[in-house]
Amino acid sequence: MKTIKDLISEMTIEEKASLCSGLDFWHIKGVKRLGIPSIMVADGPHGLRKQVGDSSDIGKMESYPATCFPTASALAASWDRELVFQVGEALAEECKQEKIGVLLGPGANIKRSPLCGRNFEYFSEDPYLSGEIAKSHINGVQSLGIGTSLKHYAVNNQEYRRMTIDAIVDERALREIYLAGFEIAVKEAQPWTLMGAYNKLNGTYVCEHPDLMRTILKEEWGHQGLVITDWGAMNQRVDALKAGLDLEMPGPHDGNDASIVQAVRSGELDPAVLDKAVERLLTLIFKAKATLAEDYTYDQHSHHALARRASAEGAVLLKNDSETLPLAKNVKVAVVGEMAKTPRYQGAGSSLINPSQLDNIFDEIVKIAGPEQVSFIQGYPARGLHLDESLIGEAVRAVKGAEVVVICAGLPDSFEVEGLDREHMRLPDSHNALIKAVAGAHPSVVVVLSNGSPVEMPWVDDVQAILEGHLGGQAGAGGIADILYGLVNPSGKLAESFPIKLEDNPSNENFPGGPAMVEYRESIFVGYRFYDTVEKEVLFPFGHGLSYTQFEYQDIKLSKSNIGDEDTLEVGLLVKNIGEVPGKEVVQLYVSPVESAVFRPKAELKGFEKVNLQPGETRQLTFTLNRRAFAYYNTAINDWHVESGAYRILIGSSSRDIRLEDQVKIASTQKNAAFASRDQLPAYLNFPDDAKISQDDFEQLLGRQIPFKPPEKRGDYTLNTPIGDMTDTLFGRLLNAIVQRQLKKTFKGDLENPTGLMMQSMVKGLPLRGLIMAGGGNLSLEMLNGLLVIFNGRLLKGIFSTWKAISQNKRLG
Ligand code: BGC
Repeated sequence: MKTIKDLISEMTIEEKASLCSGLDFWHIKGVKRLGIPSIMVADGPHGLRKQVGDSSDIGKMESYPATCFPTASALAASWDRELVFQVGEALAEECKQEKIGVLLGPGANIKRSPLCGRNFEYFSEDPYLSGEIAKSHINGVQSLGIGTSLKHYAVNNQEYRRMTIDAIVDERALREIYLAGFEIAVKEAQPWTLMGAYNKLNGTYVCEHPDLMRTILKEEWGHQGLVITDWGAMNQRVDALKAGLDLEMPGPHDGNDASIVQAVRSGELDPAVLDKAVERLLTLIFKAKATLAEDYTYDQHSHHALARRASAEGAVLLKNDSETLPLAKNVKVAVVGEMAKTPRYQGAGSSLINPSQLDNIFDEIVKIAGPEQVSFIQGYPARGLHLDESLIGEAVRAVKGAEVVVICAGLPDSFEVEGLDREHMRLPDSHNALIKAVAGAHPSVVVVLSNGSPVEMPWVDDVQAILEGHLGGQAGAGGIADILYGLVNPSGKLAESFPIKLEDNPSNENFPGGPAMVEYRESIFVGYRFYDTVEKEVLFPFGHGLSYTQFEYQDIKLSKSNIGDEDTLEVGLLVKNIGEVPGKEVVQLYVSPVESAVFRPKAELKGFEKVNLQPGETRQLTFTLNRRAFAYYNTAINDWHVESGAYRILIGSSSRDIRLEDQVKIASTQKNAAFASRDQLPAYLNFPDDAKISQDDFEQLLGRQIPFKPPEKRGDYTLNTPIGDMTDTLFGRLLNAIVQRQLKKTFKGDLENPTGLMMQSMVKGLPLRGLIMAGGGNLSLEMLNGLLVIFNGRLLKGIFSTWKAISQNKRLG
């Protein structure tokens, strides 16, 4: 049996380089001559999207049926590591059946703004929660010998111009917020692969960013696995390989493979770098092949049941006045809103699952309460966007006969789409108007929401109960019905703050930026770190979620009251179910420095535990904190720094509902470490409650000036200019018009079709080099360079070089 090292020693440089780009859209290449097989990968993250048919047929959305589990935002709201692990195992079983070696997920990007179109695919605004949930997901999948791809590494926090945008982020925000979740998942779960994001970070494409890909990921965190590009994210192949990016997807990309060969031959690239990438590739291929050798069949029904349980665990009871919920089975209920029958349960884009089964809230309620008790009223039009007064009037009349009204509202699928950010945080007017009108006419209204990220709730005080169902997957409706009738006691907690209005969000002034850059001026003040520090009122705070029972917290005990920065601290407490029904509580631990020489958030989540308690039962919990729980990233020493001083240990049921508190004093060995003046900036030490930070202050924090980048014009276009920007020439306008017309035709003029919306925005934002991916390997770099000359206004010269490239039939990519 040959070892991987033997195989590498038998490979030619060409064979090695060729392995560095995919075989097609979904396969990693093998080498026939040496018996190295090819393996298939597929999306991800909350279900398996295995494309039907030919894998070189790009953009084909049809996929085999699979279980659509709750999306990431719902899973994270369960705060349940064990449950997420189980979902991971189930996903791996589906991969085993379908012979998929790597599932492309989970996504651990931070929810910087509620508007990001892919927030439903991400876990949290908090890196600790995000990292812990990602870790469980990865460990679950990988425990059965299937790989994961932790994505999108890193600082991919918006969809607008995602393939070219340059995220300008200061070092502390990068380390403390945008990388910390990835760090936990990498160190503690070793994902088989990591997916490099599309965007740039501080001027460099992340896929070729040596700090991100090599220094931090490999040297500091010890990642052993493969690093792959997001689909079409490759810019400079050789730079990326040097930085530690092994595999370009999709493929083939003969041109880039050839550039690797050339770089080795010319001495520009150390052959050992290529060998290492190949070693990582082969390690992955053989690991996956070993798992997939045997045929496997999973049990669809048990997966559906798990999906139902998971969705109920992630649903958050936001409000429950006068114990409106749970409902008794003999209560007459009017179910209002088309989403009760046409469920909204996942988001659009690469994560779109073809569900093996699909439940709806109305049927699930009927199954529990019986058909006599339940009526249905549509309330708003099927696609949900335009306001229909007659449907509202009908609902107001019809609910009069019911004892309780359950309104199913949420974001239509065209609002949560990969490739597209939302422009506002509102529900459709048709939903808001319906809720207002019905709440004005009925004293007992429950709103059930289906949405992957926060919405404004202008009617929050007018309704009696609100249940946030997130995008709960194919069995989400059953999970909701179980909670409405008390078959399951709600235990989800918000994994992100719900601001009252969009303008309250700290990134609002600088989201989504563009055309070239987006400035993260709010630095570390993301989510509750901002709201709680400046004491801004929120609609519902981070960590909030009600139960049908109550919990009492008692007896906080610290193992020591004075520690050194290298010591660990144990925090013990008792939590008791003092209500009448069994229930689960998520106990949260926050650390708050009493004083600091540098700017810091008021408190940060550093531990959580979900406990299941019978009525009257008490449980002892112990959290162990190490130095990182107290540290901030000090830019003067480029390391984590624990300041000497007192720290409050806060135990709560949400970031704003602290039940127990104690203090520990730390005598730090780092007391002589210098503080960087950048960490002591007045604008950040007294962070403004409108989050408005001047360019000057932000530049001081960055330690450099931000170069001014005017929008690109004809003559300046490069292979990285998005196609949608190249409208300065007739040819550019023509190309854009043709593409958009073609898309409209494909989607039959349906402007709300989410896949159509995604495609339109993707084409606009696609850099010219991305055509190589779209061409499925039939376009060369020379052809694109020829096109570029045309776009830059030199028609004849461009036509000539394009023609030359075509006639030479140099298939470089
Ligand atoms: C997405 C990834 C996905 C990949 C393959 C990209 O556009 O950003 O999340 O895994 O496509 O579908």
